[in-house]
Amino acid sequence: MTSEPRTLVFDRLTRPLRELRVSVTDRCNLRCAYCMPKALFGADHAFMPRAELLSPPEIARAVRAFVEFGVRKVRITGGEPLARGDLVEIIGALRGIAGIEDLAMISNGIGLDAAKATALRDAGLDRLTISLDALDDARFRRINGMNVPVARVLSGIEAGEAAGFTPLKINVVVRRGWNDADVLPIARRFHGSPHIVRFIEYMDVGTRNGWRLDEVVPAREIVARIDAELPLEPVARNRAGEVAKRWRYRDGGGEIGVITSVTQPFCGDCNRARLSADGRMYNCLFAESGLDLRDPLRGAAHEGDQDDLARLIRDRWQARDDAYSEHRAEHGKFRNPPDESAKRIEMSYIGG
Ligand code: GTP
Ligand code: 5AD
Ligand code: SF4
Ligand code: SF4
Repeated sequence: MTSEPRTLVFDRLTRPLRELRVSVTDRCNLRCAYCMPKALFGADHAFMPRAELLSPPEIARAVRAFVEFGVRKVRITGGEPLARGDLVEIIGALRGIAGIEDLAMISNGIGLDAAKATALRDAGLDRLTISLDALDDARFRRINGMNVPVARVLSGIEAGEAAGFTPLKINVVVRRGWNDADVLPIARRFHGSPHIVRFIEYMDVGTRNGWRLDEVVPAREIVARIDAELPLEPVARNRAGEVAKRWRYRDGGGEIGVITSVTQPFCGDCNRARLSADGRMYNCLFAESGLDLRDPLRGAAHEGDQDDLARLIRDRWQARDDAYSEHRAEHGKFRNPPDESAKRIEMSYIGG
């Protein structure tokens, strides 16, 4: 399905709006130490009340407005999207929007069985990414904070394969001292498979994970480690604004990617907007505030209201000039130790 956008919109750094990441919940069944540390997201943590979340038709109307300005790629994220009981309905509502060429989702894979994966596929989901931070069971249990065995993720991956999502993407956030010993085992496991593992530099996003620069494993180190055993060569990127840098095994064993948000930021190409589960638009992962779209969505009663929504989105994008990762790399202003007073949004709220 394709259709022409009414017009492309560019921000103050002439970056076009092309991709949208839609968080559908701030809940998750894991407590990954780098994202929702258990001590800070305990039993008493107040997640968003259900009434605050956009409904599937509201999500679809918001997304339609983004599509009018050139968004062609939509990714469902969370928290953990499977925590939404009406996820299949959300996928179905988005699939009905002419103009979305790529509908993808990221999940931690826990609780993904073949029936659920097939229902998502049948509803129109094109692609699936699953997070897998360690193959070593003890390390995986430690990282996820809930003592969940890695076998649960591996069976989620099998469910994704069974439902026809091959090639999957497998996301690994690498954190020194936690899972850097898993880099090679994960590379080996998927070498020779159609799946694409992406190793992600641990980012200073949010204010809760106690981020430290010395826990970042630079992508070039990750590539060197893999290359020493399984020789790699670089591959040209697929499209403008692609986040991952691509590498392939010289022996034909497939492809990996590295996401260099800390050591080689890519803000110059940033074409992504974000929609939170409670209907706020954010332009940068490191933003401190978002634009409420839920009130206009809920208040809308007339034909022209869709135009008002589109205008809000256009104006917000046109006004943006954020390039957080580049600025902090240029000025060396890493939050180390973390700045507790910062108001930044959390990854579990905006979904990466
Ligand atoms: P594909 O379309 O499958 O290539 O997806 P993607 O490249 O958008 O990747 P994905 O959604 O899996 O995101 C991977 C990771 O990249 C996220 O978990 C974040 O850590 C990071 N990331 C994604 N978007 C941004 C961004 O706009 N800025 C920064 N700094 N990091 C990002
Ligand atoms: N740095 C990098 N990636 C992160 N994610 C969550 N927190 C961080 C962080 N601090 C990733 C998850 C998943 C995606 C949604 O965001 O592992 O791949
Ligand atoms: Fe949940 Fe993903 Fe955050 Fe882990 S990284 S706590 S799986 S949202
Ligand atoms: Fe875009 Fe902000 Fe990420 Fe830079 S840090 S790539 S501006 S989301």
